Order: sequence, then C-alpha cells, then structure tokens
Amino acid sequence: MTQTEERAELNESELVPIEKIVSLCKRRGFVYPNSEIYGGVAGIYDFGPLGVEMRNNIRRYWWWSMVQLHDNVVGIEGANITHPRVWEASGHVENFVDRLVECKKCKRRFRIDHLPPENLEKHVCPVCGGELTTEPRVFNLLMETYLGVIEDERMKTYLRGEACQNIYLDYDNVLKSSRMQVPFGICQIGKTYRNEVTPGNFLFRQREFEQWDLQFFVHPSEMQKWFDYWKSYRFDWCQSIITHKERLRFRAHGSDELAHYAKQAYDIEYRTILGWQEWEGIHWRQDWDLSRHSEYSGQDLSYTDPLTKERYIPWIVETSGGVDRTFLYLLLDAYEEQPDPMGKGNDRTVLHLHPWLAPVKVAVLPLQKNKEELVNVSKELYRKLQRLMVAQYDDIQNIGRRYRRQDEIGTPYCVTIDFQTLDDQTVTVRERDSMSQIRVHLNELPMYLFERVTWK
Ligand code: GAP
Repeated sequence: MTQTEERAELNESELVPIEKIVSLCKRRGFVYPNSEIYGGVAGIYDFGPLGVEMRNNIRRYWWWSMVQLHDNVVGIEGANITHPRVWEASGHVENFVDRLVECKKCKRRFRIDHLPPENLEKHVCPVCGGELTTEPRVFNLLMETYLGVIEDERMKTYLRGEACQNIYLDYDNVLKSSRMQVPFGICQIGKTYRNEVTPGNFLFRQREFEQWDLQFFVHPSEMQKWFDYWKSYRFDWCQSIITHKERLRFRAHGSDELAHYAKQAYDIEYRTILGWQEWEGIHWRQDWDLSRHSEYSGQDLSYTDPLTKERYIPWIVETSGGVDRTFLYLLLDAYEEQPDPMGKGNDRTVLHLHPWLAPVKVAVLPLQKNKEELVNVSKELYRKLQRLMVAQYDDIQNIGRRYRRQDEIGTPYCVTIDFQTLDDQTVTVRERDSMSQIRVHLNELPMYLFERVTWK
C-alpha cells in the first residue's frame, strides 16, 4: 500500500482523545502523575504495575530486533551524568534552545516554532488575540546539576539532554573490547532530561523521558545505503506493532528545522487527534559527533580500516525514538469503545494491543470460586503459566465482567476452567479481539499460549 493510499483511508472520527487514555492509565494502573500527593510536577510521570510490564515488553522487543537480530550491532548502558565538556562538544550548551514569545495580555508563552505563521508575523496571540512580544526569549533545555558537596569545589554539569552522547563517548572502548569493525552500530535505551518550556499532552512532551538510540558507524561512501536501510527497517518496526497502519508516515525535515547535528532527517510520524506527530527520528549526523568529541577531548577518534589501512572519521546514521511516545501511541492505536451489538448494555472498552506487548498475557478464570475442584485445577494451571508469562488469576464477579476487565487492559487470552474441564481436561480459551472461544487440552495450553504471545 502506498503512503498516499494509506492517508486516504485514515478515518479521523476513530482518533482517540488523549484524555481517554490518561483516564484509563490512571484507573487501571498504567501511568500516574509523579508526586501527585504534592500536587504533581508538570511533564513528569510514574509507571504503575501494568505500565511497567508493557514498557518492559516494548523495550525488550526493540532490543531483540535491533541488537539480537543484527550481528553488527551491540548494546551499552551509559550513565545519566557525564563530564560537562560533553555538552559543549555536542553543541547542546550553545544550540539546544527554545525561543519563546509572551502574550502581553494573557501572559501565555509560545514557542515560536509552534506558532501559526500569521500569528508570528502580526504578533497576535492565538488564544486571546492580545499582542505578543516581538523579541523572543531564549531558554536552554539542558537540566543543570552539581557534582560534589563542598561549595567552592562543586562542578556544574548536566543530566543528559539526549541519551545517545554516551554512545560516542564509549565508541572507542566498544571498538577495542568487542572486536567490531565499521560498519557497526551501538544501541542504548536510557533516560533523557529536558527542561521543556511547554511540557504537555501527557507522555508526549515530558521533562524526564526515555529514548532508544542506534548510532550506526559507516564509511562515508556507504552513508546513503545504511541511511536508507535503517530508515525502512525502523518504519517496518513501528508498523509491526500497530493496528492502524494508515496512521504512520515519513516526513522529511525542512532545512530550517534540522537539528544542529543533522544534515538530513526524516521523522516517522503517527497520526493522533492533535495531528501528525513525531515518533522516531532518523538523522544523518555525518561526522559531527566523533569530530567534535575528538576536538574537545583531544583524543583521536578516527578509525583505521584493517584491510585498506584508510584512516577516517566514521559517519553516523542515527535512529532515535521515545519509549514513552511509543507507549502513548500504542495505547492510542489500540483503544476502542465497542457498543454491545445486541443493545443489552454489554458495551466494552478494549485495548487491541499486540499480544507481544500486552502487559498481561493470560487471565485464568475459574467459572465458580466456591467449587473446590474448579479452584484446584485453576490454581495449578495459573502457577504453571505464571512461570512462562505474565498471568493473572481472577475469580471476582461473573465471567462476563471478568472478560471486560481483561479486555480493558489488553489481555489477549482468557482461560476459563469449567465443569467440562473436570471431565475431559479441556479449558475454554477466549481471544480478546474476536471474542471467539475454542477448547484446548490442558497439556497443550502452555505451548498454545506461549507461541502466540512471544515475538518471533
Ligand atoms: N539524539 C537525537 C534526539 O534526541 P530528538 O528528536 O530530540 O532526537 C528523539 O528525540 C525522540 O525522543 C523523539 O522522536 C521522541 O520520540 C522522543 N522525545 C523527544 N523529546 C521528548 C519529550 N520531551 N518527551 C517525550 N519524548 C520525547
């Protein structure tokens, strides 16, 4: 399907308001506002019991496909704090800024790159029509922190403003310790901190969030080939875990919006109710990073080809995405409110999450909680499944309500143990999306489920 065709099929009325996801996340334990009992902190969130399971699944799927499946890619996990010179070399101290104007009437602040052009030109507030200040104020997004306790000796540094910097810092160590040769890549998943001036839209723009990065080091003559490879690999990856494929597209950055380190950039964008928004960036970083770190550290980070003996600074293809945005887009993609087709009030909210990423894989449900034989079989089965995958045991309320509860958190399979189980050792397996039910023998059940909830 071409991208034009995909966009033509997009149904805007199906786009889910973010508030519905915020409410579900709080109600069912996916995400909570950070420090809520103190009134919260804008742009900072905590993940609850289901959120942390789903987040771990997202991370693991990324790691599996990027590191485990690529012979020429390895992983690291760098620290959140680095030497302050790193951020001078990277260009962030100088260039990592937001430019804001303020409305003289309502006092709201706007990033000038987010203002509609006519408001920017005429200095008119898009909210109240008041006059905007003409000279933008410049704010650096790096979060400062201090190392050391003695006042005069304390060193000012920064929490990392993009996680990938550790990869350049460890590049030479990885080369020497893991016997990699160019072309090769280093992956990392880690926290990032930005003093966003306008945090908002739930997990979309936060001040503490998580990024995944691949930095892929190549000979300059092979840059285009690898840029194209990773661009399409990452698009396919995003596509593999969403239902609404038509909500995904590429967008090339215009020359006026390129980050200071990028010569070319494409965003993979997901369509939300707020418009098309960035999910992941594929950046042509060229030799910016290794050249700058060579210059600022005084260490030669050039590479000598073992065959040709050519010496050069490798160029870099970067694919950089947000774990939190992935989490948010997957929920927006999966959420559906389905009215009861029979009109009997059995409406359901269902998360059509990919079974690989769903926080709970299976729920074990004894038909009746006061029948000892049913309970014994159910508990034994639950203990067995729990060793293989995240499982829940639920015997509260009637079976219909239990199915609804599991649908709302995206559990792909519910297993019901009933009186027939006692006779023939089969259980009912109910699939979330189709609500179809089949009977599976207890001996075959673990493999039946495992095959369906594990990525391959
Ligand atoms: N190293 C390149 C880099 O940091 P970026 O486009 O600034 O590039 C990469 O960030 C990804 O991180 C974005 O595509 C987005 O998914 C995520 N991201 C960026 N800022 C974010 C924020 N304030 N809150 C949540 N996710 C964010």
